[in-house]
Amino acid sequence: MQVSGLLCNYTRESSCQLHVSYLAKVTRSRHNTGHMKTLLIATQNRHKTVEIAQLLATMAVRVVTLADVAPDLDIPETGETFAANAREKALAAACATGLTALADDSGLAVDTLQGQPGVYSRRFAPTDQERILKLLNLLAGVPWPRRTARFHCAVAIADPQGILTEFEETVLGHLTETARGDQGFGYDPIFQADGETRTMAEMTLTEKNAISHRGKAFRRAAAWVREHEAQLTA
Ligand code: IMP
Repeated sequence: MQVSGLLCNYTRESSCQLHVSYLAKVTRSRHNTGHMKTLLIATQNRHKTVEIAQLLATMAVRVVTLADVAPDLDIPETGETFAANAREKALAAACATGLTALADDSGLAVDTLQGQPGVYSRRFAPTDQERILKLLNLLAGVPWPRRTARFHCAVAIADPQGILTEFEETVLGHLTETARGDQGFGYDPIFQADGETRTMAEMTLTEKNAISHRGKAFRRAAAWVREHEAQLTA
């Protein structure tokens, strides 16, 4: 199934099917978890899911992912900004499932490349390895002071009626000349945050989350959810 547009622009039939199968799951789970509210994390990216699960671990809400409730939901990214894409994904997921949904959009902006790859970070080349190689080639010969870059993370939380809140965070750093480390994902092996001597791929998940764009944005989102739990749909 493909969902597009900002507001509940999906087929009635497919949405209903999703909604019904979701409700069955939540009804069962309410019975098991003492009426905990549910928050849907609208990502299909399994690396991000691992990071997000750790960041939201202390919340008193049941966290489900698209893999749990809407594995076939395909939400295209058509926005020109991280915030627009996060909004689009959160609204589409909330409309398709009837749940309060949290979505993020993230990427790397390189100063000497006028902010590229930016919202095209995932589409910059077919694989992580090729994306890294392409960037390293584009930056060949560029000295350290001009290798500045930043990771962005925009988070949006929506229910089927609309956007409830949004956050955006960044982490500043430099791009190294060679890839280092095997933790994390994406551009982590060539991103060294300011004040660090290791790339993000040389850090543990806990260390990365403590300083990362996603860590900062999701801590704000978790605080918001804790304060507004009563507003969650189910
Ligand atoms: P999206 O947010 O799923 O569109 O993915 C954005 C892309 O940006 C990812 O596929 C990665 O290539 C890159 N990216 C986003 N966050 C990170 C991060 O924390 N580390 C490394 N790369 C990232």
